[in-house]
Amino acid sequence: AVTGAGAAAITLAGCNTASTSAVSEPERFDAALPIPPLAESELVDGIRVLRITAQAGTHQFRAGEDVSTWGFDGPYGGPTVRATVGERVAVEVTNELDESTSAHWHGMHLPPDMDGGPHQMIEPGDTWRAEWLLDQAPCTLWYHPHPHGATERHVYRGLAGLFYLDPAPGSAEAAVEEQLPHTYGVDDVPVVIGDKSFSDGGELVIDDGGNEVGLLGDVVTVNGVVGPVLQVSTERVRLRLLNASTARTYSLGLPGRTVTLVATDGGLLRQPVELEQVRLSPGERAEVVLAMEPGEEVMLHSFEPELGNVVVPFAVGANDAFDVLRIVAEGELSASPEVPGELATFGLDAASATVRREFRLSDREINGAEMDMARIDETVEVGTTEIWTVINDDLSPHNFHVHDVQFEVLSVGGSEPPPELGGRKDTVYLEPGRAVELIMTFEDYADPQWPYMYHCHLLRHEDEGLMGQFVVVEPGESADPSMIAGHGL
Ligand code: C2O
Ligand code: CU
Repeated sequence: AVTGAGAAAITLAGCNTASTSAVSEPERFDAALPIPPLAESELVDGIRVLRITAQAGTHQFRAGEDVSTWGFDGPYGGPTVRATVGERVAVEVTNELDESTSAHWHGMHLPPDMDGGPHQMIEPGDTWRAEWLLDQAPCTLWYHPHPHGATERHVYRGLAGLFYLDPAPGSAEAAVEEQLPHTYGVDDVPVVIGDKSFSDGGELVIDDGGNEVGLLGDVVTVNGVVGPVLQVSTERVRLRLLNASTARTYSLGLPGRTVTLVATDGGLLRQPVELEQVRLSPGERAEVVLAMEPGEEVMLHSFEPELGNVVVPFAVGANDAFDVLRIVAEGELSASPEVPGELATFGLDAASATVRREFRLSDREINGAEMDMARIDETVEVGTTEIWTVINDDLSPHNFHVHDVQFEVLSVGGSEPPPELGGRKDTVYLEPGRAVELIMTFEDYADPQWPYMYHCHLLRHEDEGLMGQFVVVEPGESADPSMIAGHGL
């Protein structure tokens, strides 16, 4: 822990601020990286139907140490859901916990009553069915509970899984996908990162540790294990990185070399970007391709967090650099195609935006108000393209996530965004004191009765009120407060 004058400076600049629990690295990275199973599905009348169950159980993050955890279809984490763009999916979520929860499809474009946010709670013993059309670019999404005031605890205990949207056969993205590593668990590897703290008795604890950002665990897990190693057998490997932590921001990379970033939250970038570090705040995803030599061994590392171009010179930073995942290549590797130079075309035109809104985040309020389930903060007309300016008025970090849409980043602190923010995003890191401009289109699903959320994805901040609600309506329509009042409030 850091005390005195240094601590104050950290609060000003730090990515993961004062009195952090330093990460203690395991002695060895020799636990085989578990690959989450693929969720089973069946086609019923042309709908891809899946069933998942939230349940309590016992999980070993480290061999021989039983920990009480929660998971979907297992004690911890969740199966990877896979479906194809253009399909209708139905997910039946059963809650076997002894408290109510929900299942939110983070990054998904879908009707607001299927979103799985705080208005779609699932009571213990109940099953909730969400059905929608996969109608967006192929990408790596995830799912997790969203109970208002308890999201941090539910995600931290383990309720989180990946949701892959595969490209439709014959699409341009399908041709690119062929050129990228795409064999699940072999050269296309899910990497779900979460930091944890344990009590003396070995159970998960959520300390209130005095960190402004929330819980900073002293152990980092990948796919539910500490000290993981991944064996690879191909010349190129794609890692689908998800920061499923409640508060910690990572800057991930391979010391001394670059990785090739190919996709962010909402799908492929236009072109690949070579990066030394990929910054991921809670909720964000990144897909990177690594080139491996036969017999080579590399370490995925989390560097001291950076704020823009400024490396934060804070003492705690030295404590916040640590190894995450060891990667070992076999002596002979099968050939992988080169990463294509052109990946995707997309782009919203700022000139087409007809509405601007401003969101100021300060402490636990957005535009001066804490989250209220019974209040609609913003009303959006369906079909409009809008520019949202989001400002972090605090001296510590936040991030910003918008449900239903993928946005593009127009500016960061008044300047062009760096190339790694050039793709479609649903969550963006907010540096202290900085503004970002986001552009997005609300294509469809007008419904005055059910709101979508926007919020900070540092989950304690979200739970404590740094969240707001918007509805999408037909032109001239307004939100229907009677229905909001009817959502069990
Ligand atoms: Cu990943 Cu509103 O959440
Ligand atoms: Cu925040």
